[in-house]
Amino acid sequence: MRAIFELKNVGYQYTDTRKALSNINLSVPEGEILSIVGSNGSGKSTLLHLMCGLIYPMEGSIAYKGIEFQEKSFKKAAFNREFRSSIGFVFQNSDAQLFCPTVLDELIFGPLQLGYPKNLAIERADEVVRMLHLEAYTDRPSYMLSSGEKKRVAIGAVLTTNPEVLIFDEPMSGLDPKTRSFIIDLIFELSQVGKTIIVATHHLDLVDYLKSRVVVLSERHTIEKTGSSDEILSDTDLLINANLIAEYSHRHNGTVHKHLSLGFLSHRHGGKS
Ligand SMILES: Nc1ncnc2c1ncn2[C@@H]1O[C@H](COP(=O)(O)OP(=O)(O)O)[C@@H](O)[C@H]1O
Ligand SMILES: [Mg+2]
Repeated sequence: MRAIFELKNVGYQYTDTRKALSNINLSVPEGEILSIVGSNGSGKSTLLHLMCGLIYPMEGSIAYKGIEFQEKSFKKAAFNREFRSSIGFVFQNSDAQLFCPTVLDELIFGPLQLGYPKNLAIERADEVVRMLHLEAYTDRPSYMLSSGEKKRVAIGAVLTTNPEVLIFDEPMSGLDPKTRSFIIDLIFELSQVGKTIIVATHHLDLVDYLKSRVVVLSERHTIEKTGSSDEILSDTDLLINANLIAEYSHRHNGTVHKHLSLGFLSHRHGGKS
């Protein structure tokens, strides 16, 4: 399977003293679901921003379908168009992504930017509206929507251009349980139709649901380990070191117990939950 992204020794820092990523080597094959996990500040968003060409490596290289790219690559119209139409990025904060007067305008913005005729853009938007159950919102401004509705619109705005690669930054944050399960199902469906999907999260329950390959970023901003979700989630020392779980003390019937913060696994006392 060919690689969609190939990162070699990638490093990035925002200021002289603050490293965001160091020595990242990573290949993302076509059609894969990849989860990137790490605590706050470990570099997940930076890694996603590098992959979707919002920022560029300061060290090492990054290639898209075998073509190494840097800032100047986007001055070439053909590469720019191919890259921008193939990669959809769903921001962590939907408000950073949504800016049009209505939801429908939001949905057709991407296709119009790529030069689609308006009727085709509207056709695409209609499909996405049905898929994401946005029928009731098309005429409303997105700032009037709940965070779950905004997230669906933000995803919809990316899907109308039908990108090959979908990149989600913390897709579960701030959402109610129903929207979370909707998004998990949607990620699966998109994967089934052949999309390459990259998800950054610090929610281990999402990693458990997705059963994807997982890359763990450490607090030193490097890749600590890559493995299957089962391998990663059963490695307690790794998860503690990466600050993805912690140990808590609490009392049951006068006795102090220590528990790991693996919220998605029920904790047990002598065989009883
Ligand atoms: N725009 C920025 N300016 C300066 N430092 C930043 C900026 N964005 C992120 N950082 C720093 O880079 C590191 C990695 O951040 P980030 O990629 O946002 O991590 P994560 O998404 O895992 O929380 C952190 O130390 C963070 O403070
Ligand atoms: Mg982040």
